[in-house]
Amino acid sequence: MNQALVRREDLNVDNTLIQNIAAYSLQDASYWSFKGRSKRNHCHGLIQYPAMMVPEMQGELIDAIQSVDPNITTVFDPFVGSGTTMGESMMRGLDFVGHDINPLAILACEVKSGPLYVKKLNDKISDLLSAIELSNSNEVAVNFKGIDKWFLKEIQLELSSIYLAIKAEPSKWARKIFWLALSNTVRSTCNSRSSTYKLHIKSEEQIEKIGSAKVIFKKNLLKSFENIKAHKEMLTKNGHLKRSKSVSKVSIKNVDAKLRKKSKQKFDLLISSPPYGDNSTTVTYGQFSYLPLQWIDLSDINEKIDPSILSYQNAIDSSSLGGSLKESEDKRLKLINRSSSLDICIEKILKVNPENIKKLVSFVYDLDLSLKNAIDELRDNAYMIWTLGNRRISDIEVPLDKIMRELLESRGCTYVYEIERTIPSKRMASRNQIASTMGKESVLIMRR
Ligand SMILES: C[S@@+](CC[C@H](N)C(=O)[O-])C[C@H]1O[C@@H](n2cnc3c(N)ncnc32)[C@H](O)[C@@H]1O
Repeated sequence: MNQALVRREDLNVDNTLIQNIAAYSLQDASYWSFKGRSKRNHCHGLIQYPAMMVPEMQGELIDAIQSVDPNITTVFDPFVGSGTTMGESMMRGLDFVGHDINPLAILACEVKSGPLYVKKLNDKISDLLSAIELSNSNEVAVNFKGIDKWFLKEIQLELSSIYLAIKAEPSKWARKIFWLALSNTVRSTCNSRSSTYKLHIKSEEQIEKIGSAKVIFKKNLLKSFENIKAHKEMLTKNGHLKRSKSVSKVSIKNVDAKLRKKSKQKFDLLISSPPYGDNSTTVTYGQFSYLPLQWIDLSDINEKIDPSILSYQNAIDSSSLGGSLKESEDKRLKLINRSSSLDICIEKILKVNPENIKKLVSFVYDLDLSLKNAIDELRDNAYMIWTLGNRRISDIEVPLDKIMRELLESRGCTYVYEIERTIPSKRMASRNQIASTMGKESVLIMRR
């Protein structure tokens, strides 16, 4: 077929897609902010994870793409986090592949993906709660550097009773649900503040107010049960459940996006939200997960998880995008002329604080490697939906949306559309000298 004709056809499809997406906000310019219209319930209520996307928004974007590209069967998210895109894909009966470097994200996605044996789960929860009620551990079941700093002794003993009772549960699918409820419990019973994702010790008064881990765990587990039940009901209602399992084939892998990991299949649609900068100065997903992961049997998440990822509290963050500042000058040279917006931003920051360039360059370099790996996994003409935030460095805005667009264009992808939305309540890193918070994000739509 004539190449020009193919191109024109693609452009027509893009134009229809743009019209369909624009139609949502015709009556209400702030439509995509989802203020007061978004709820994290059913599978989306199973974990509190930093910088989660709005489920309804991702769902509506999938619908818009499907309306112009009805042959979509597989969705890919290389930075899957808590699995917002996965939950919305499952709601539509789509197959899904998700990757993340953080084992806690993998656990959350595995629980969301099922199986959803609600009746059996109900019985297992009763047994587990009775076992925990009866057990009074007088030995601490786990050990790691800083345990006495981050947990009161009585909390360590209560968490140990829960930990040992979960280990005694024979079914792995049930243990995973219990570990996830325990991870939420660890976050609320540790001595680190809940107002920040970074590990930051609470005041003495706040520590005195920490409640019983057993009581909090019970509450969390019962809430998880309700969410799993609702998730199952939603899938049944949508006709996407068969014998307590979602009809979607779901695969979740603990993978570093910047390293090559070739899949056997080509995906039809990419929906993702990468980090907006290096973890240490934007969102510390690793520090957020460090304490919960110490109380989880990692082999239940994945036999291959390298335990060194928990050897110190910054280990996950250092392996994440932009975590290594090594050879930053080389990285800068390799990025030059790939994105004019990046070049301009580097020049501006150089004038104010040259040291901060290393962080920006290392992050964009890793992001670019991840983009290359991600687009290699897509079929021709596959759409990509990237939710992105423009952070500030040295009080200068880093236009990640423009940088991403230019990097993707330099790899042969086509720009389709961009939505800008205000974030009503997304919790971001607190202001510090290097980065500052933001109240807007962009949704960049491109085509491979
Ligand atoms: C913005 S969050 C994704 C949140 C997700 N969209 C949600 O709704 O929960 C970005 C994710 O990228 C992950 N990440 C950071 N560096 C990574 C890397 N090198 N490889 C894979 N995942 C990485 C983080 O662990 C985090 O879960």
